Amino acid sequence: MYNRRKFIKITAAGASLAALTRSAVAKSIVPVDDTKYPIVISTWDFGVPANKEAWTILGKGGRALDAVEAGVKIPEADMNNHTVGRAGYPDRDGHVSLDACIMDENGNCGSVAAIEYIAHPISVARAVMEKTPHVMLVGEGATQFAVEQGFKKEKLLTPESEKAWKEWLKTAQYSPVVNIENQQHVPGSKYNHDTIGMLAIDAKGNISGACTTSGMAFKMRGRVGDSPIIGAGLYVDNEVGGATSTGVGEEVIRNVGSFLVVELMRQGLSPEDACKEAVNRIIKKKPETAKKIQVGFLAINKKGEYGAYAIQSGFSFAVCNTQQQDLIVKGKSAM
Ligand code: GLY
Repeated sequence: MYNRRKFIKITAAGASLAALTRSAVAKSIVPVDDTKYPIVISTWDFGVPANKEAWTILGKGGRALDAVEAGVKIPEADMNNHTVGRAGYPDRDGHVSLDACIMDENGNCGSVAAIEYIAHPISVARAVMEKTPHVMLVGEGATQFAVEQGFKKEKLLTPESEKAWKEWLKTAQYSPVVNIENQQHVPGSKYNHDTIGMLAIDAKGNISGACTTSGMAFKMRGRVGDSPIIGAGLYVDNEVGGATSTGVGEEVIRNVGSFLVVELMRQGLSPEDACKEAVNRIIKKKPETAKKIQVGFLAINKKGEYGAYAIQSGFSFAVCNTQQQDLIVKGKSAM
């Protein structure tokens, strides 16, 4: 498909050249750089199979929006993934509640927060975007909307998640955020939580993004993180690029992280430098908190250049483009 597309572009370029020469107005020929996109990038190693799914659409010339929705549905459906989708760990009261948002190349966006009983919140977020006059539906209203749209209502708490929750309950002492955050970045912690954020540019150069998570394991009932918040967990501006985040959502929301990264790219920063600046602002505002938490940003610009930066080491992201389908990149970090 890639070669055929390249051939079409070369043929088109040849035809244009002939036309320009004939009319004697040719000044220069801008080479088509089709090595940069289509491209899809996503957070963490579990981005590899997600990107692969997105590529089944992007590789055929499909729309970035369709690709990111299909891509993040892979971790949402993964029964071994306890941080995203149907097998996500529950809140402290045993309810699995999910958050997701999606944004397209025209600035349209949709979101669901604290939705229960629905395995694919990203598709509900897309339905909110396309079938309602609203951007965000939450809680029972989001579930009701999903059921009305034909989504299957099902019990999401898996036996494994229930066991982990009951084990956590034995020692759980409610202490807001900081203890929860502590659990997030402890290497190998079974309660570590992450999010899939995905950004894609299609063959037409249009950008879309998606972000989905089950949020912090054993969070307070009703807690919503950054992932479904447009501008915090995800932002796309088709003129500039897109950004997404992972980690402790409260700090991302406080800094409107993904919007900040896109605006920094608009001012000329590279994707990595924009992510770094956003991370540094979090650290500067709360240096002591930052030592104990993880936040990572991932960004792509209109040219298809990408980069990431995190507070703590260990943040990875996956890249899939015309050159390579399963690249895992170790993100740089402040600590
Ligand atoms: N970044 C996901 C969350 O905080 O819920």
